[in-house]
Amino acid sequence: MSDLLKVEDLAVEFRIAGSRRRTMRAVDGVSFSVAPGETVALVGESGSGKSTIGRSILGLTPPRSGRIEFEGRDITHRTRAEQRSIARDLQVVFQDPYSSLNPAKTIGQNLSEPLRAQGMASSAAARERMHALLRQVGLPADSPDRYPSGFSGGQRQRIAIARALILGPKLIVCDEPTSALDVSTQAAVLQLLRDLRHEFQVSYLFITHDLAVVRHFADRVLVLRQGRLVEEGDVEQICENPQHPYTRELIATAPVPDPVLQRARREARLRGWDETDQGSL
Ligand SMILES: Nc1ncnc2c1ncn2[C@@H]1O[C@H](COP(=O)(O)OP(=O)(O)OP(=O)(O)O)[C@@H](O)[C@H]1O
Ligand SMILES: [Mg+2]
Repeated sequence: MSDLLKVEDLAVEFRIAGSRRRTMRAVDGVSFSVAPGETVALVGESGSGKSTIGRSILGLTPPRSGRIEFEGRDITHRTRAEQRSIARDLQVVFQDPYSSLNPAKTIGQNLSEPLRAQGMASSAAARERMHALLRQVGLPADSPDRYPSGFSGGQRQRIAIARALILGPKLIVCDEPTSALDVSTQAAVLQLLRDLRHEFQVSYLFITHDLAVVRHFADRVLVLRQGRLVEEGDVEQICENPQHPYTRELIATAPVPDPVLQRARREARLRGWDETDQGSL
């Protein structure tokens, strides 16, 4: 099967604050692909470059070098018109729903904005689609007339997910979509994403610092450290038989009440992998 997304030798640099010439490389030589319908997790500690990769794919941060292909089309340096046409197929859910929801607009207005940008907002079919989507993500029927501030964090994230889905995208970049939520809401939103994945046959690039979150969710895992991929594999292989010491450390320090993971951590510690984690299991 041909790739939906292909990232080749991606490098992103930022200018160092206070310096006119010096730069730091936030992403360095990163290559991976995402197949249609696949969920790929991108994990790594804070500052490892996860969001920067996501933002480059979304066209928000220009790469220094490398190549980004979507359905075989080079989108590394896209024009505004190309960006608009790609937006139909490539969407995002951020950690903070306010990054994609305008607090001054109703949910109905927020959700019809992507449709309007594509010239599809006025049709009755589009309105029907919006109502159906809100039902699918578990929001009350009167939601379109209400404002984002009237919803809980979990509900707002459901609205952001509905907004990401409204154009029927092929890939959604999810950047820590559950990290700001409490544990039970986190589980409910993850379950929702999992259900929607089948219903909409959408792929996810799921960015998280917490490997445990994607343990029962992702097909494949990419492990990022200081801007470089250090390990890549099927989720079972990465979680149960990690090869790189950094991956082992990520697993050992994940603070999650997951029995499978707890057992893995305990075993890891017994094998002497985990010398940094002082916490109790
Ligand atoms: N706009 C920017 N200007 C300068 N430096 C940046 C910018 N964005 C990110 N960086 C730097 O690039 C590196 C990678 O940042 P990035 O946000 O991609 O990490 P992350 O893995 O998403 O971290 P987190 O888990 O905290 O969200 C960091 O050192 C960060 O300080
Ligand atoms: Mg980030």
